[in-house]
Amino acid sequence: MKRLFLQTWILLAADFQLILGAGLKDTPTLGSKDTPRLLIRDIITGTFEYETVQNHSVFLYQEYSKELYVGGANFVLKLDVNNYHIIEKFPLTTTEQQQCEEESCENVITVIEKFQDSLFVCGTNGHRPQCWKLFPSVQNQTFEVMESYEGTGISPFVHTQNYLSLSVEGDLYAAAPLDADGSSLQFRRKAGSRTNVWMYDSWVSEPTFISASWVKQQYDPDDEKIYVFFREKNSDPSPEADPWLSRVGRVCKVDEGGSKRFFQNMWTSFLKARLVCGFRKESLYFNRLQDIYVMDAEDWHDTKVYALFSSSWNSTAVCVYSIGMIEDVFENSTFKGYDKEIPHPRPGTCVSNSRSLPQATINIIKDYPEMTDWVHAAPFYVSSNNYTKIVVDRVQAADQNMYNVLFLATDSGKIHKVLEAGSEPFIISETRLSNTSSIQVMKLDSEKKKLVVGISEKISTVDLQRCQEYNSSCADCVLARDPYCAWTPSGCVPTVNGSIQNIMNGGISVCPGEETKAVNRSKRETTWPNSRTMHSVPQNVPFYLSCPIGSYHAEYTWEHRGRSFPCLQMLSSCLHLIPSMAQENYGDYECVSIERNYRKVVKKYRLIEQELPDESRYFKTNNVPYQRNGATTVVPQIAWFTLLAEAVLGIIK
Ligand SMILES: *[C@@H]1O[C@H](CO)[C@@H](O)[C@H](O)[C@H]1NC(C)=O
Ligand SMILES: *[C@@H]1O[C@H](CO)[C@@H](O)[C@H](O)[C@H]1NC(C)=O
Ligand SMILES: *[C@@H]1O[C@H](CO)[C@@H](O)[C@H](O)[C@H]1NC(C)=O
Ligand SMILES: *[C@@H]1O[C@H](CO)[C@@H](O)[C@H](O)[C@H]1NC(C)=O
Ligand SMILES: *[C@@H]1O[C@H](CO)[C@@H](O)[C@H](O)[C@H]1NC(C)=O
Ligand SMILES: *[C@@H]1O[C@H](CO)[C@@H](O)[C@H](O)[C@H]1NC(C)=O
Ligand SMILES: *[C@@H]1O[C@H](CO)[C@@H](O)[C@H](O)[C@H]1NC(C)=O
Ligand SMILES: *[C@@H]1O[C@H](CO)[C@@H](O)[C@H](O)[C@H]1NC(C)=O
Ligand SMILES: *[C@@H]1O[C@H](CO)[C@@H](O)[C@H](O)[C@H]1NC(C)=O
Repeated sequence: MKRLFLQTWILLAADFQLILGAGLKDTPTLGSKDTPRLLIRDIITGTFEYETVQNHSVFLYQEYSKELYVGGANFVLKLDVNNYHIIEKFPLTTTEQQQCEEESCENVITVIEKFQDSLFVCGTNGHRPQCWKLFPSVQNQTFEVMESYEGTGISPFVHTQNYLSLSVEGDLYAAAPLDADGSSLQFRRKAGSRTNVWMYDSWVSEPTFISASWVKQQYDPDDEKIYVFFREKNSDPSPEADPWLSRVGRVCKVDEGGSKRFFQNMWTSFLKARLVCGFRKESLYFNRLQDIYVMDAEDWHDTKVYALFSSSWNSTAVCVYSIGMIEDVFENSTFKGYDKEIPHPRPGTCVSNSRSLPQATINIIKDYPEMTDWVHAAPFYVSSNNYTKIVVDRVQAADQNMYNVLFLATDSGKIHKVLEAGSEPFIISETRLSNTSSIQVMKLDSEKKKLVVGISEKISTVDLQRCQEYNSSCADCVLARDPYCAWTPSGCVPTVNGSIQNIMNGGISVCPGEETKAVNRSKRETTWPNSRTMHSVPQNVPFYLSCPIGSYHAEYTWEHRGRSFPCLQMLSSCLHLIPSMAQENYGDYECVSIERNYRKVVKKYRLIEQELPDESRYFKTNNVPYQRNGATTVVPQIAWFTLLAEAVLGIIK
């Protein structure tokens, strides 16, 4: 009978889907600082949908240009990111179709680089990696294939294999398997004006390359290095050792390899060091490097390396290093396994003619390229979210200071916006781009304050300054601690001079009128709803009150006749359940949120007793309720109550 009762009302409770449809674990837990403060929707300002789902996509997006080059299966696209109009679509199918098996015939584009005034594109080409130079890369002219090259070592054979590419001053650096089974991965200078150079076989063991980065030096370009971040197999076979280690490697830009007699076409400057993210005291390390974002600084030593790691216990961490820290290890550490005198020049020093380096120096590079010391940092942010990608923006806030904001993509289509200020990370918000797809590419446009994000179905632009989300009051705007936004007389707006904000701690005493109130906690109250919602409810029926959750970092309580009751979180609502209405349950209720001592009345209710002519018939004679005059608002609430109770019991179980 109870089921029947439920089924009748399932049809009526339009929001029923909300409970059973959405996963509860996907909603942040109320009151926890480790979860996003806000869930932001409708943040997408532009979208381009692919004609067919892409299993892999690659972007070339240069900030300050409005063009986005996109590589997918059998095509390269040039898009105008302002409106996602196609400027050009260039088909690039597998050459010699007949020779590949049907399912592997795709030419999945894996590399797009601006290289020597052309667009350099490589793809899997049906298991026969191939590269094409497309001319011209100037506006409104159509692409044309000018040259085509064998692409092994630049593009992988299938898109799931590891690879990376980097274009520096007309040279192309790349890592990709040399063998079709994905083995023989090498980081090499592969094409361009300088000599091709590659790695000595024993330097790395089963590597996975994550990122390569060129760090410029204004005053000494010949000393510039290319840093390569990767994971490799741990040579320590002991069972307690982690099977994988993360590394930073380094080569000189001017390295042309050794002489004809010794180490010709091999890096003469390659060094590597352990890149460690963890708590040394506890021996708790995050060993699997996932992604890198390098943020340039005026002084190259201050260039920051944001490294995202995962661990064997499903937890992720962000560690922040500087190039100065990395250089300190490469310049000052001893060489692991080598205890004799270090020859001159010190191995790894950038010299203008690497072919004339003394053999003693190169011998150490060859046999002992690993540094004894580690590049170590303690995690800045540890999370149970499975983050897979990171980008970092630098934002000038209302106090004129610069703050770094991290954008972390999860494997389930979400992006977290995390403030780096003070010692603790602050998770400003969560944006969901997809319920099913993981994020394939994420590019930052710091000038336009946008992220361009690729998933398998589409490309979307995410607006990073959605200040209207915090527009209800100065306190709302300041509590958000979003450096992109600040409070002005016309509301919460993108930061302008003279606006109000408090990024460092989110304290609302900066808001006009809050300064004096801040002294007395019980007076700090903003009453947001002016009106009270009335419900007339008969006695002895179950009832619940609901209040929307604005901030997941706040504490919510229900206040009634001088008593306070905890809030029961149900997705994005905060509930108060009354199992059976009794005399003492009538009266005024307030849903109150408290965040950082800021107290706000979110919702007000008044429950008044409703007289039913025959109360017993209403509920007891049968379980299918019928409606009496005036009881219509109550009945769905009762049905809801039962559903909620079941859902809650389900969760508790
Ligand atoms: C994408 O992957 C699916 C499943 O692995 C496969 O069936 C499909 O052919 C792939 N599509 C392309 C365009 O490669
Ligand atoms: C591109 O098109 C614009 C007008 O559509 C034209 O004025 C310009 O000359 C063209 N540029 C080139 C390089 O052809
Ligand atoms: C980590 O996650 C995987 C996949 O979700 C699961 O199989 C494994 O048990 C988890 N490990 C731990 C230590 O939680
Ligand atoms: C090497 O160590 C010395 C002494 O501690 C220090 O002054 C120097 O800056 C270090 N070198 C680098 C590149 O950090
Ligand atoms: C995290 O995401 C990566 C990439 O999508 C996936 O390979 C891995 O299995 C995920 N880990 C867990 C614990 O779900
Ligand atoms: C995810 O699913 C929810 C509930 O089904 C839906 O409301 C929402 O629009 C979906 N989001 C996206 C980005 O598809
Ligand atoms: C923000 O609030 C102000 C009033 O405080 C209002 O004038 C303005 O239109 C609001 N802006 C948005 C984007 O909602
Ligand atoms: C904002 O104010 C600062 C110092 O008060 C000044 O240096 C800066 O130029 C101002 N910015 C704008 C856009 O007016
Ligand atoms: C704070 O406000 C309460 C109630 O208005 C009052 O009783 C109390 O004296 C105030 N405390 C201070 C320190 O002003």
